[in-house]
Amino acid sequence: MRKSKLRYYIHTFGCQMNENDSEHLAGLLNSSGLEPALSPEESELIIVNTCAVREKSEQKLYSLLGRLESIKKKNKALIGVVGCVAQLYRSKLWDKKPSIDFVIGPDNYWQIPHLLPPSPREKVISTQWSTEWHEIPFQQVRRESLVSAYITIMEGCNNFCAYCVVPFTRGREKSRPMSHILAEAEDLAFKRYKEIQLLGQNVNSYEDPDTGHQFPVLLEEIDHIEGIEWIRFITSHPKNFTKNIALAMKEASKVCHQLHLPIQSGSTSVLQRMNRDYTREEYLEKIAVLRDLMPDISLSSDIIVGFPGETQEEFDETLSLIETVRFTNIFSFRYSPRPFTSASKEKDNVTFEEKKKRLIQVQALQKKIQLEVNRSFLGQTQKVLCTGRSKKDPHVYSGRNQGYQVVNFNSNKEVIHQFLQVRITSCGPYSLFGQAV
Ligand code: 5AD
Ligand code: SF4
Repeated sequence: MRKSKLRYYIHTFGCQMNENDSEHLAGLLNSSGLEPALSPEESELIIVNTCAVREKSEQKLYSLLGRLESIKKKNKALIGVVGCVAQLYRSKLWDKKPSIDFVIGPDNYWQIPHLLPPSPREKVISTQWSTEWHEIPFQQVRRESLVSAYITIMEGCNNFCAYCVVPFTRGREKSRPMSHILAEAEDLAFKRYKEIQLLGQNVNSYEDPDTGHQFPVLLEEIDHIEGIEWIRFITSHPKNFTKNIALAMKEASKVCHQLHLPIQSGSTSVLQRMNRDYTREEYLEKIAVLRDLMPDISLSSDIIVGFPGETQEEFDETLSLIETVRFTNIFSFRYSPRPFTSASKEKDNVTFEEKKKRLIQVQALQKKIQLEVNRSFLGQTQKVLCTGRSKKDPHVYSGRNQGYQVVNFNSNKEVIHQFLQVRITSCGPYSLFGQAV
């Protein structure tokens, strides 16, 4: 390392897993004597944590790197690319952007203090896979939030959905020892965190490498930790989401009645071509079981429109599924071909214009449903965890309810990072508004 007090800045693209990885990286850098900077302009070490899930997310990296070039010159800064794009292209990244100084894949973060190039002239790369779980000491994690914390419980994916690059960027599934997860959760409770979000590409297939205990046992164990009030988890795969997990959700009193269960398409034939391993009917059956056990459950999903070969009839089945389930929220995307995936090798006969049209249709339908769902909460009093102030109006507080919906509200008392009851008085399609009671 060049001098004792290097300042670092981490820019994070992508999912919660990447956000948690950046918190780990920041912790490791702090522990090796570096100082966090508030902006890239004020730093000599700039790390970009990248997302490769769609082409658009990858493009964002290249345009950011372009913008960082002047800072690199001015501050003689080192620029590192880490995360999914780093793992995907490895040394080929230098063909695209020679200004990069180091490239580190997700399996190698634990070594980052030893991987920083000693000078801007020496390039470093570390993208080898490891089958072992490398623990990053949880005491060192530098968390963004003081009230809600991420805990990574597993990594990787064995599913190879036809469109998805993740198995090539995060490798095969590996689970973190349960004893470490529980120690981290205990530590968070001690630090007065109120909410825990368990993370992994496929949390439902979690299996403790020491005891073989599975996901329901993990939920049960965390449920016993005093001080933690809400537990959530993401992401679930419908194929691995069993009735036992639904029962564990119901029985563990702190597990929120909220579930993100990506369906991707409402058509069984498209699901088959996507290699998802469940049918529309099986998905709907799981939703029925969940709603039977937890009538108040809030469900969200991911949808891809315009997957290669998706016919109008198949797309209409996605619309009808959205109407049938009435999700609290969905994330919808145009299909984007990704390197190494099986779908990218096929001819894509759904035009870009058609994909755009289908996306607009999905989003308009969901907006209408969300407004109806949100209106059904008017007049109710809900438990809300206040996470901060509203971005639009600093006089207004902001938080989430148990269903993970955004609730903005007025309060006469200071309530940041507290649980409180909010009476819902109005709403839009994307948030609820209320008054603290
Ligand atoms: N094109 C479009 N969307 C994709 N997703 C994953 N891969 C692709 C792709 N190639 C979406 C899926 C997934 C979410 C995280 O991103 O819906 O659940
Ligand atoms: Fe990608 Fe499918 Fe794995 Fe999810 S389950 S990360 S969509 S391959």
